[in-house]
Amino acid sequence: MAPAISSTTAQSTHSLDIVNFVVNQGNGVKGLSDMGLETLPEQYIQPPTERTTSYSVVPEESIPVIDMSNLGDPKVADSICDAAEKWGFFQVINHGVPIEALENVKDAAHGFFSLPPEDKKKYSKEHSPTTNMRFGTSFSPRAEKSLEWKDYLSLFYVSDDEANAYWPSVCKNQALEYMRASEVLIKRLLKALTRRLNVENIDEDKELLFMGSKRINLNYYPICPNPELTVGVGRHSDVSTLTILLQDDIGGLYVRKLDDDSWVHVPPISGSLVINVGDALQIMSNGRYKSIEHRVVANGSKNRISVPIFVNPRPGDIIGPLPELLRNGEKPIYKQVLYSDYVRHFFKKAHDGKLTVDFAKI
Ligand code: OGA
Ligand code: NI
Repeated sequence: MAPAISSTTAQSTHSLDIVNFVVNQGNGVKGLSDMGLETLPEQYIQPPTERTTSYSVVPEESIPVIDMSNLGDPKVADSICDAAEKWGFFQVINHGVPIEALENVKDAAHGFFSLPPEDKKKYSKEHSPTTNMRFGTSFSPRAEKSLEWKDYLSLFYVSDDEANAYWPSVCKNQALEYMRASEVLIKRLLKALTRRLNVENIDEDKELLFMGSKRINLNYYPICPNPELTVGVGRHSDVSTLTILLQDDIGGLYVRKLDDDSWVHVPPISGSLVINVGDALQIMSNGRYKSIEHRVVANGSKNRISVPIFVNPRPGDIIGPLPELLRNGEKPIYKQVLYSDYVRHFFKKAHDGKLTVDFAKI
Protein backbone atom coordinates (compact mmCIF):
# COMPACT_ATOMS: atom_id res chain seq x y z
CA MET A 1 0.00 0.00 0.00
CA ALA A 2 1.22 3.50 -0.75
CA PRO A 3 2.12 5.51 2.34
CA ALA A 4 -0.47 8.03 3.44
CA ILE A 5 0.31 11.50 2.15
CA SER A 6 -0.81 14.76 3.61
CA SER A 7 -3.37 16.90 1.84
CA THR A 8 -0.77 19.63 1.11
CA THR A 9 1.42 17.14 -0.66
CA ALA A 10 -1.46 15.59 -2.51
CA GLN A 11 -2.41 19.00 -3.82
CA SER A 12 1.01 20.29 -4.59
CA THR A 13 2.74 17.35 -6.15
CA HIS A 14 -0.18 15.74 -7.93
CA SER A 15 -1.20 18.91 -9.69
CA LEU A 16 2.38 19.74 -10.52
CA ASP A 17 4.69 18.48 -13.19
CA ILE A 18 7.69 18.17 -10.90
CA VAL A 19 10.42 18.05 -13.51
CA ASN A 20 8.97 21.00 -15.36
CA PHE A 21 8.63 23.02 -12.16
CA VAL A 22 12.06 22.16 -10.79
CA VAL A 23 14.22 21.87 -13.88
CA ASN A 24 12.59 23.91 -16.64
CA GLN A 25 11.01 26.73 -14.68
CA GLY A 26 14.07 27.40 -12.57
CA ASN A 27 12.45 26.76 -9.19
CA GLY A 28 14.95 24.09 -8.26
CA VAL A 29 14.40 21.82 -5.29
CA LYS A 30 14.45 25.00 -3.22
CA GLY A 31 11.10 25.84 -4.86
CA LEU A 32 9.69 22.52 -3.67
CA SER A 33 11.20 22.94 -0.21
CA ASP A 34 9.80 26.48 0.10
CA MET A 35 6.31 25.15 -0.63
CA GLY A 36 6.53 23.21 2.62
CA LEU A 37 6.12 19.89 0.90
CA GLU A 38 5.55 17.10 3.41
CA THR A 39 6.34 14.07 1.29
CA LEU A 40 9.18 13.55 -1.14
CA PRO A 41 8.07 13.44 -4.80
CA GLU A 42 8.65 10.01 -6.29
CA GLN A 43 11.21 11.31 -8.81
CA TYR A 44 13.60 11.82 -5.87
CA ILE A 45 13.21 8.40 -4.30
CA GLN A 46 16.53 6.62 -4.62
CA PRO A 47 16.86 2.83 -4.86
CA PRO A 48 17.30 1.29 -1.37
CA THR A 49 21.03 0.64 -1.98
CA GLU A 50 21.74 4.35 -2.41
CA ARG A 51 19.84 5.58 0.64
CA THR A 52 21.68 6.76 3.72
CA THR A 53 20.25 3.95 5.82
CA SER A 54 21.99 1.30 3.71
CA TYR A 55 25.53 2.52 4.51
CA SER A 56 27.71 1.49 7.38
CA VAL A 57 29.29 4.50 9.06
CA VAL A 58 32.21 4.39 11.51
CA PRO A 59 31.18 7.17 13.90
CA GLU A 60 34.43 7.43 15.82
CA GLU A 61 36.62 8.00 12.76
CA SER A 62 37.11 10.81 10.27
CA ILE A 63 39.56 12.14 7.71
CA PRO A 64 42.86 13.69 8.92
CA VAL A 65 42.96 17.35 9.98
CA ILE A 66 46.23 19.03 8.97
CA ASP A 67 47.55 22.26 10.43
CA MET A 68 49.23 24.11 7.56
CA SER A 69 50.72 26.93 9.61
CA ASN A 70 54.22 25.55 9.33
CA LEU A 71 54.62 24.12 5.87
CA GLY A 72 58.38 24.57 6.12
CA ASP A 73 58.23 21.57 8.47
CA PRO A 74 58.70 18.45 6.29
CA LYS A 75 56.29 16.59 8.57
CA VAL A 76 53.44 18.76 7.29
CA ALA A 77 54.19 17.93 3.66
CA ASP A 78 54.45 14.28 4.65
CA SER A 79 51.08 14.26 6.36
CA ILE A 80 49.49 15.86 3.27
CA CYS A 81 50.95 13.12 1.03
CA ASP A 82 50.05 10.35 3.50
CA ALA A 83 46.46 11.61 3.72
CA ALA A 84 46.21 11.76 -0.10
CA GLU A 85 47.42 8.14 -0.29
CA LYS A 86 45.37 6.66 2.53
CA TRP A 87 42.21 8.73 2.57
CA GLY A 88 42.14 10.84 -0.59
CA PHE A 89 40.54 13.45 1.68
CA PHE A 90 41.68 15.71 4.51
CA GLN A 91 40.80 18.99 6.18
CA VAL A 92 43.23 21.87 6.50
CA ILE A 93 43.31 24.53 9.21
CA ASN A 94 45.56 27.61 9.39
CA HIS A 95 45.61 27.39 5.60
CA GLY A 96 46.16 31.08 4.95
CA VAL A 97 42.88 31.79 3.15
CA PRO A 98 41.32 34.69 5.06
CA ILE A 99 38.27 33.61 7.06
CA GLU A 100 36.49 36.72 5.80
CA ALA A 101 36.74 35.50 2.19
CA LEU A 102 35.17 32.20 3.28
CA GLU A 103 32.35 33.86 5.22
CA ASN A 104 31.65 36.26 2.35
CA VAL A 105 31.32 33.55 -0.27
CA LYS A 106 28.99 31.52 1.97
CA ASP A 107 26.78 34.59 2.46
CA ALA A 108 26.89 35.26 -1.27
CA ALA A 109 25.78 31.68 -1.99
CA HIS A 110 22.75 32.21 0.26
CA GLY A 111 22.17 35.51 -1.56
CA PHE A 112 22.16 33.82 -4.96
CA PHE A 113 19.75 31.04 -4.01
CA SER A 114 17.41 33.55 -2.34
CA LEU A 115 16.88 35.29 -5.68
CA PRO A 116 13.44 34.77 -7.20
CA PRO A 117 13.23 31.85 -9.66
CA GLU A 118 12.86 34.21 -12.64
CA ASP A 119 16.25 35.72 -11.83
CA LYS A 120 18.00 32.37 -11.29
CA LYS A 121 16.49 31.03 -14.50
CA LYS A 122 18.52 33.61 -16.44
CA TYR A 123 21.54 31.44 -15.65
CA SER A 124 20.01 28.09 -16.64
CA LYS A 125 21.43 26.09 -19.53
CA GLU A 126 18.76 27.44 -21.90
CA HIS A 127 19.20 31.09 -20.96
CA SER A 128 22.75 31.57 -19.77
CA PRO A 129 24.71 34.02 -21.95
CA THR A 130 27.73 31.68 -21.76
CA THR A 131 28.18 27.92 -21.62
CA ASN A 132 30.71 28.52 -18.83
CA MET A 133 28.00 29.41 -16.36
CA ARG A 134 25.04 27.32 -15.39
CA PHE A 135 22.31 27.30 -12.76
CA GLY A 136 20.91 23.81 -12.46
CA THR A 137 19.49 21.17 -10.23
CA SER A 138 20.33 17.55 -9.40
CA PHE A 139 23.43 16.32 -11.28
CA SER A 140 22.44 15.28 -14.76
CA PRO A 141 18.60 15.20 -14.74
CA ARG A 142 18.33 13.77 -18.23
CA ALA A 143 20.63 10.84 -17.45
CA GLU A 144 19.35 10.06 -13.96
CA LYS A 145 16.71 7.53 -13.00
CA SER A 146 16.31 9.22 -9.61
CA LEU A 147 16.99 12.89 -9.05
CA GLU A 148 19.26 14.36 -6.37
CA TRP A 149 18.06 16.93 -3.82
CA LYS A 150 20.42 19.76 -4.74
CA ASP A 151 20.50 23.03 -6.70
CA TYR A 152 23.72 24.63 -7.90
CA LEU A 153 25.35 27.48 -9.74
CA SER A 154 28.44 26.34 -11.60
CA LEU A 155 30.98 28.90 -12.77
CA PHE A 156 33.83 27.83 -15.03
CA TYR A 157 36.49 30.51 -14.70
CA VAL A 158 37.93 31.77 -17.97
CA SER A 159 38.97 35.33 -17.19
CA ASP A 160 38.15 38.19 -14.84
CA ASP A 161 36.60 39.97 -17.82
CA GLU A 162 34.17 37.18 -18.53
CA ALA A 163 33.32 36.80 -14.84
CA ASN A 164 32.76 40.53 -14.51
CA ALA A 165 30.55 40.58 -17.58
CA TYR A 166 28.37 37.59 -16.79
CA TRP A 167 28.53 36.19 -13.27
CA PRO A 168 25.56 37.15 -11.05
CA SER A 169 26.30 40.39 -9.24
CA VAL A 170 25.18 38.97 -5.87
CA CYS A 171 28.07 36.52 -5.78
CA LYS A 172 30.58 37.57 -8.45
CA ASN A 173 33.10 39.45 -6.31
CA GLN A 174 32.89 36.99 -3.44
CA ALA A 175 33.42 33.96 -5.71
CA LEU A 176 36.34 35.64 -7.47
CA GLU A 177 37.91 36.67 -4.19
CA TYR A 178 37.64 33.15 -2.75
CA MET A 179 39.28 31.74 -5.89
CA ARG A 180 42.05 34.32 -5.78
CA ALA A 181 42.62 33.92 -2.06
CA SER A 182 42.93 30.14 -2.30
CA GLU A 183 45.56 30.23 -5.06
CA VAL A 184 48.54 30.16 -2.67
CA LEU A 185 47.07 27.24 -0.71
CA ILE A 186 46.46 25.28 -3.93
CA LYS A 187 50.08 25.80 -5.02
CA ARG A 188 51.41 24.76 -1.62
CA LEU A 189 49.35 21.58 -1.68
CA LEU A 190 50.39 20.70 -5.23
CA LYS A 191 54.04 21.35 -4.47
CA ALA A 192 53.93 19.03 -1.45
CA LEU A 193 51.99 16.33 -3.28
CA THR A 194 54.00 16.29 -6.49
CA ARG A 195 57.36 16.22 -4.75
CA ARG A 196 56.51 12.68 -3.65
CA LEU A 197 55.89 11.92 -7.34
CA ASN A 198 59.48 12.94 -8.22
CA VAL A 199 58.44 16.32 -9.58
CA GLU A 200 61.28 18.52 -8.36
CA ASN A 201 59.95 21.78 -9.66
CA ILE A 202 56.52 22.77 -10.98
CA ASP A 203 57.41 24.74 -14.12
CA GLU A 204 54.87 26.71 -16.15
CA ASP A 205 53.74 23.73 -18.25
CA LYS A 206 53.29 21.52 -15.21
CA GLU A 207 51.38 24.23 -13.40
CA LEU A 208 48.94 24.46 -16.30
CA LEU A 209 48.58 20.69 -16.38
CA PHE A 210 47.72 20.53 -12.67
CA MET A 211 45.72 23.71 -12.27
CA GLY A 212 45.18 25.29 -15.69
CA SER A 213 41.42 25.58 -15.29
CA LYS A 214 39.08 26.13 -12.38
CA ARG A 215 35.42 25.76 -11.69
CA ILE A 216 33.63 27.10 -8.64
CA ASN A 217 30.24 25.73 -7.65
CA LEU A 218 27.75 27.15 -5.21
CA ASN A 219 25.73 24.17 -3.94
CA TYR A 220 22.42 24.47 -2.14
CA TYR A 221 20.77 21.57 -0.31
CA PRO A 222 17.40 22.80 0.93
CA ILE A 223 15.39 21.23 3.75
CA CYS A 224 14.07 17.93 2.47
CA PRO A 225 10.96 16.00 3.43
CA ASN A 226 11.94 12.31 3.90
CA PRO A 227 15.72 12.84 3.68
CA GLU A 228 16.17 9.12 4.35
CA LEU A 229 14.71 8.28 0.93
CA THR A 230 16.92 10.45 -1.24
CA VAL A 231 20.45 11.93 -1.50
CA GLY A 232 21.92 15.44 -1.65
CA VAL A 233 24.67 14.14 -3.94
CA GLY A 234 25.02 10.51 -4.89
CA ARG A 235 28.26 8.52 -4.62
CA HIS A 236 30.93 9.90 -6.92
CA SER A 237 34.54 10.89 -7.15
CA ASP A 238 35.49 14.31 -8.52
CA VAL A 239 37.14 14.61 -11.94
CA SER A 240 39.46 17.39 -10.74
CA THR A 241 43.15 17.39 -9.86
CA LEU A 242 42.23 18.66 -6.39
CA THR A 243 38.99 19.98 -4.91
CA ILE A 244 38.99 22.68 -2.23
CA LEU A 245 35.63 22.51 -0.49
CA LEU A 246 34.14 25.04 1.86
CA GLN A 247 31.18 23.75 3.83
CA ASP A 248 28.95 25.48 6.35
CA ASP A 249 28.29 24.24 9.89
CA ILE A 250 25.49 21.77 9.06
CA GLY A 251 27.39 18.63 8.04
CA GLY A 252 26.28 15.75 5.85
CA LEU A 253 29.33 15.00 3.69
CA TYR A 254 30.46 11.36 3.93
CA VAL A 255 33.64 9.81 2.58
CA ARG A 256 34.25 6.16 1.85
CA LYS A 257 37.20 4.51 3.54
CA LEU A 258 39.85 3.26 1.15
CA ASP A 259 39.26 -0.35 0.07
CA ASP A 260 36.44 -0.65 2.58
CA ASP A 261 32.67 -0.69 2.58
CA SER A 262 32.34 1.73 5.46
CA TRP A 263 32.07 5.49 5.49
CA VAL A 264 33.09 8.38 7.73
CA HIS A 265 31.51 11.78 8.27
CA VAL A 266 33.41 15.01 7.57
CA PRO A 267 32.53 17.14 10.59
CA PRO A 268 32.35 20.87 9.92
CA ILE A 269 35.28 22.67 11.57
CA SER A 270 34.89 26.42 11.65
CA GLY A 271 37.40 28.08 9.30
CA SER A 272 38.66 24.81 7.81
CA LEU A 273 38.67 23.70 4.17
CA VAL A 274 38.16 20.14 2.97
CA ILE A 275 40.67 19.01 0.36
CA ASN A 276 40.24 15.97 -1.84
CA VAL A 277 42.16 14.26 -4.59
CA GLY A 278 40.25 14.05 -7.89
CA ASP A 279 40.46 11.51 -10.70
CA ALA A 280 42.94 13.61 -12.70
CA LEU A 281 45.50 13.42 -9.86
CA GLN A 282 44.79 9.74 -9.28
CA ILE A 283 45.57 9.16 -12.96
CA MET A 284 48.63 11.44 -13.06
CA SER A 285 50.01 9.85 -9.89
CA ASN A 286 49.47 6.42 -11.47
CA GLY A 287 47.11 5.42 -8.66
CA ARG A 288 49.30 6.53 -5.76
CA TYR A 289 46.93 9.30 -4.64
CA LYS A 290 43.31 8.22 -4.32
CA SER A 291 40.25 9.96 -5.64
CA ILE A 292 37.74 8.67 -3.14
CA GLU A 293 33.98 8.24 -3.34
CA HIS A 294 31.93 10.69 -1.37
CA ARG A 295 28.27 11.61 -1.02
CA VAL A 296 26.05 14.14 0.70
CA VAL A 297 22.95 13.22 2.66
CA ALA A 298 19.82 15.34 2.50
CA ASN A 299 18.79 17.18 5.67
CA GLY A 300 15.29 17.25 7.12
CA SER A 301 15.61 20.40 9.18
CA LYS A 302 18.31 22.70 7.78
CA ASN A 303 19.33 24.32 4.50
CA ARG A 304 22.97 23.50 3.75
CA ILE A 305 25.41 25.18 1.37
CA SER A 306 28.87 24.24 0.17
CA VAL A 307 31.32 25.92 -2.18
CA PRO A 308 33.83 23.66 -3.93
CA ILE A 309 36.60 24.94 -6.19
CA PHE A 310 37.53 22.24 -8.68
CA VAL A 311 41.16 22.70 -9.69
CA ASN A 312 41.58 20.98 -13.06
CA PRO A 313 43.82 20.46 -16.05
CA ARG A 314 42.71 22.49 -19.09
CA PRO A 315 40.09 20.81 -21.29
CA GLY A 316 42.63 20.41 -24.11
CA ASP A 317 45.31 18.78 -21.93
CA ILE A 318 46.27 15.14 -22.31
CA ILE A 319 46.52 13.52 -18.91
CA GLY A 320 48.20 10.27 -17.95
CA PRO A 321 50.72 8.92 -15.43
CA LEU A 322 53.52 11.48 -15.03
CA PRO A 323 56.77 10.78 -16.92
CA GLU A 324 58.66 11.42 -13.65
CA LEU A 325 57.10 8.22 -12.30
CA LEU A 326 57.37 6.08 -15.41
CA ARG A 327 61.02 6.85 -16.09
CA ASN A 328 61.89 4.82 -12.99
CA GLY A 329 60.36 1.74 -14.57
CA GLU A 330 56.94 1.98 -12.93
CA LYS A 331 54.26 0.36 -15.11
CA PRO A 332 51.42 2.70 -16.10
CA ILE A 333 47.96 1.57 -15.03
CA TYR A 334 46.24 4.41 -16.89
CA LYS A 335 46.48 5.52 -20.48
CA GLN A 336 46.82 9.03 -21.86
CA VAL A 337 43.40 10.64 -22.28
CA LEU A 338 42.17 14.01 -23.46
CA TYR A 339 40.85 15.71 -20.34
CA SER A 340 37.72 17.07 -22.05
CA ASP A 341 36.82 13.52 -23.18
CA TYR A 342 37.18 12.35 -19.61
CA VAL A 343 34.96 15.13 -18.27
CA ARG A 344 32.35 14.54 -20.97
CA HIS A 345 32.22 10.88 -19.99
CA PHE A 346 31.59 11.88 -16.35
CA PHE A 347 28.71 14.22 -17.18
CA LYS A 348 27.04 11.82 -19.63
CA LYS A 349 25.98 9.43 -16.90
CA ALA A 350 24.37 9.56 -13.48
CA HIS A 351 26.65 9.49 -10.43
CA ASP A 352 28.00 5.95 -10.18
CA GLY A 353 30.69 5.84 -7.55
CA LYS A 354 34.20 5.21 -8.85
CA LEU A 355 33.30 4.00 -12.33
CA THR A 356 34.39 7.14 -14.22
CA VAL A 357 38.07 6.31 -13.82
CA ASP A 358 37.63 3.04 -15.75
CA PHE A 359 37.56 5.30 -18.81
CA ALA A 360 41.31 5.81 -18.40
CA LYS A 361 42.29 2.27 -17.34
CA ILE A 362 44.67 0.40 -19.56
C1 OGA B 1 30.74 18.02 -5.18
C2 OGA B 1 30.64 17.49 -3.81
C3 OGA B 1 30.22 17.89 -1.48
C4 OGA B 1 29.46 18.83 -0.60
O1 OGA B 1 30.19 19.12 -5.42
O2 OGA B 1 31.39 17.37 -6.02
O3 OGA B 1 31.04 16.38 -3.59
O4 OGA B 1 29.68 18.77 0.61
N1 OGA B 1 30.14 18.27 -2.84
O5 OGA B 1 28.65 19.61 -1.10
NI1 NI C 1 32.39 15.78 -5.13
